[in-house]
Amino acid sequence: MATFSNKTFDSGLYAEFRPIYNKATYDLIYDYHSKKGGQFEVAVDVATGTGQVASNLADKFKEVHGTDLSARMLESAVKKDNLDYQACPAESLPFADASVDVLTTFEAMHYFDTDKFFREVKRVLKPNGTLAVLIYDLPIIKDEPEMNLRFTELVSVALKNSWSPGMDSVRCLYRDIQIPFQDMKRWFSPEEADVQKIGSITPEPILEQKMSLNQFKQYCKTWSSYARYLENHSDDPVDEMINDFAKIAQADDLDSYYITPQWAACMFLGTHKQ
Ligand SMILES: C[S@@+](CC[C@H](N)C(=O)[O-])C[C@H]1O[C@@H](n2cnc3c(N)ncnc32)[C@H](O)[C@@H]1O
Repeated sequence: MATFSNKTFDSGLYAEFRPIYNKATYDLIYDYHSKKGGQFEVAVDVATGTGQVASNLADKFKEVHGTDLSARMLESAVKKDNLDYQACPAESLPFADASVDVLTTFEAMHYFDTDKFFREVKRVLKPNGTLAVLIYDLPIIKDEPEMNLRFTELVSVALKNSWSPGMDSVRCLYRDIQIPFQDMKRWFSPEEADVQKIGSITPEPILEQKMSLNQFKQYCKTWSSYARYLENHSDDPVDEMINDFAKIAQADDLDSYYITPQWAACMFLGTHKQ
């Protein structure tokens, strides 16, 4: 998945404008891992991007390693004393056998060769170690039906040919991927849980964030599909959409009108038994 390394991709923008995972998300992982008798020595965040998850893990674990295929992403990654980063593929991790307590990968597994990745996770996790996988879908904008229609046009028409092949997996929140670990648990955002009737329900959607139109514009520009689109086009479909949003909202400027995107999400937790 090379787009995150391309010159049309802005990792600084990514660090600033991607949604922020909330405390409940991390607590799900820590509670699950504690109940399995796991330790809090070493955590690895695979495909860490700009290190949002790795940085949170660093507040809980003695030692944290973030990895990513893209050195460009790691250049903008959060720094902490007990946290380091290495550029490498998820399918070949630079860690010893049975050396990791918790391995996380958020919003990235659809880019991996999952057979190789799961084999590698089983190799590096300690017995009773935890694999935590999170995926969130494209957002819907709360209480803004006209904007949602215009957003769908961006996603399904303008960027139609720019999404990566893994996008179908994202859109169904990985229901198409079998994760071969024991005691698997899934948490869907409430609206998804109602449909699925599996797993527990988190007390709130895992991801919801108030954003100005300007911030939402920058968020859309963090998509790899947008970077891929720019490689072959001179127009900017995100700018065009946001201008239409401003007309819909009758907003004078992009900084004063706020919207609330909600990202349906799913967390998978599993244990490695030997
Ligand atoms: C959408 S970003 C997610 C970043 C971060 N985990 C987050 O939640 O914000 C996807 C990341 O996966 C990385 N990636 C894609 N394929 C990869 C692979 N095979 N091995 C390691 N990293 C990969 C990309 O470079 C990018 O940083």
